[in-house]
Amino acid sequence: MLIGLHLGNGYGSQPGAWRMPGVDPMSYTSFDARVKQAQAAERGKFQFIFLPDGPGAVLADIGTEAPAFNLDVMMTLAAVARETRYIGLVATGSTTFNEPFNLARQFKALDVMSHGRAGWNAITSSGEDVAANYGRKIPSSEDRYGRAHEVVQLIQSLWGSWGKEAWIHNQQTGEFAKRDQILPVNLQGKFVGSRGPLYIPPSAQGQPIIFHAGGSPNAHELAGRYANAVIGAAFTIEDARNQRNAFRAAAKRYGRDPDEIKYIPGLMTTIAKDRRSALDRRIQLTGNSFPQRAGYLQQMLGIPLNPSALDQPLSQQQLNAARPSPYDPRSSHALKIAKEGWSVRDILAHGVIDYHPVIVGPGIEAADHMLEWFEAGAADGFWISPDINSDGIDAFVDEVVPILQERGLFHYDYAGKTLREHLGAPDQYGIDPRI
Ligand SMILES: Cc1cc2nc3c(=O)[nH]c(=O)nc-3n(C[C@H](O)[C@H](O)[C@H](O)COP(=O)(O)O)c2cc1C
Repeated sequence: MLIGLHLGNGYGSQPGAWRMPGVDPMSYTSFDARVKQAQAAERGKFQFIFLPDGPGAVLADIGTEAPAFNLDVMMTLAAVARETRYIGLVATGSTTFNEPFNLARQFKALDVMSHGRAGWNAITSSGEDVAANYGRKIPSSEDRYGRAHEVVQLIQSLWGSWGKEAWIHNQQTGEFAKRDQILPVNLQGKFVGSRGPLYIPPSAQGQPIIFHAGGSPNAHELAGRYANAVIGAAFTIEDARNQRNAFRAAAKRYGRDPDEIKYIPGLMTTIAKDRRSALDRRIQLTGNSFPQRAGYLQQMLGIPLNPSALDQPLSQQQLNAARPSPYDPRSSHALKIAKEGWSVRDILAHGVIDYHPVIVGPGIEAADHMLEWFEAGAADGFWISPDINSDGIDAFVDEVVPILQERGLFHYDYAGKTLREHLGAPDQYGIDPRI
């Protein structure tokens, strides 16, 4: 099983994390904090850290909340690379709003610096808030993915443009490199082009690993051709299994082994010694949003709720009338929690309105969730998004990882040193000749 750590703004995935006791309120600008968090994940033998990026945060709630992203993903990973030894370093880079030569150079340099641990999450961007930062509008899906295909191929060509054995650096003979093995790529497509070559020799894993995140048929086609891992989002086993199968089928269409593409959905965690302590932690963290969220919970369950009675469980009459909303895939789970007899406040503290499935409880509940999805063919691993990074990563490492190891699901130590080895991805240098 693969495990990645989501590293966004450095505080944690929940609003309010920056204000919690023990959290340095200035972590947002602290590269030391980010290094420490990556080291915590490396202690737990996570295969990678994953940094999302817009960069487009609309700062609507900046009055009370930190932006969701890192100051700069590549600078952050450079800092982390120098202070870690094994963990993979994956950052998001938009194929729509970057020139391929810039991306090729930055990711390859990171790959060399980290001795073969870099991964590029190649996404097309879909937010107008991102486009606005470049003075642009979001192009059509056809144009975004058309450009993405060209950008990935061009970047992989640039990565392979420095021959594997080209770098001689022989001080006796004075031969620095084999000139005839460092060749331009001379590619010009409809959207992008580059002469090349890139002037960076191979890394310990040859070149960076391609990740993708997206859910449309165009996303399947892109990932099916080039990606070794997909950062996913799914609320149910059925949805995750369908997504995983769609990516695997796409890989097969392009002559690849479906096992070459790993599907990794998200999991948010609040790990504490028991369910009650975990719920209380969530209430302290996000409770001030509950009156407003209760309004949305009504829509998910299709029944009116009294916002001034958050401490009451739903009555039998309410439970009988409740119907999960067909418009929100989280609704059935919300109803299941409601039927367990929790108060409205505690239902919300279970994270029933969050971006991914949420574990609020002891470590074994997270391990059970991961085992169930893994064995159902719904996931090759998970990217973990702790509520508060300063102690939530350690809680996962100490309370969940040992259970997964005892069950034979997760490795006890790194078997290799590169991200390619951690993922079991095949060797590749330059573009994949099969595609
Ligand atoms: C789990 C997940 C993570 C994503 N991370 C990012 C990100 O970090 N930055 C970004 O601009 N878009 C991100 N996206 C959005 C995708 O790039 C894509 O634009 C979006 O899913 C729309 O899909 P489509 O373009 O295939 O229609 C993410 C999507 C998913 C599902």
